[in-house]
Amino acid sequence: MDLPSTFDVIFPQALPSTYDNHTVRKLSSMKGQFADQQAYARLLDKEDVVLYEVYEFKRPQEAGELLYGISVVHPGKVGDEYYMTKGHFHAVRETAEVYYCLKGQGVMVMETPEGDWAVEELRPGKVLYVPPCWAHRSVNTGSQEDLVTFFVYPGHAGHDYGTIEQYGFRKLVIEVNGQLQIVDNPRWQAPGERP
Ligand SMILES: [Fe+2]
Repeated sequence: MDLPSTFDVIFPQALPSTYDNHTVRKLSSMKGQFADQQAYARLLDKEDVVLYEVYEFKRPQEAGELLYGISVVHPGKVGDEYYMTKGHFHAVRETAEVYYCLKGQGVMVMETPEGDWAVEELRPGKVLYVPPCWAHRSVNTGSQEDLVTFFVYPGHAGHDYGTIEQYGFRKLVIEVNGQLQIVDNPRWQAPGERP
């Protein structure tokens, strides 16, 4: 029988007091995902830096369950583009997700299979609801701090990374003269024009 469980978010790092899985995503696992490929190669040549980490709690991957954990995106840029997560659709498209920002500053970049897009700010205390069918990627736009969010989504949702790996998101989040800018991604193709 399952028993109720708790964990603590330990501040100031906003890390979980306990967890089941810890995933570390390094620069080398994001080949082709940043727009400035020369900057990517230069950085990778120097060091395979950790871009983000995910702490997860193990639950059955089935309807009725909730999968949840804490995501930590480190600060930094590849060229002008902020460190970010891979981003994904859920394999079961009709599943939503909730994020609660615990620390840092950033944005969630989102889009639908039809090409609608949205960018929402993340800062401590902000709750973000990602509706069903919206792909999502978190981006750390701060210069020093980690961007830390708590997330929870349906147990049967699954992940589809392939679509985003191939085309990226419609919008890139970059820094120009110290200011955040949202620009078009040259690699993106409208869903109707994809081969
Ligand atoms: Fe998700």
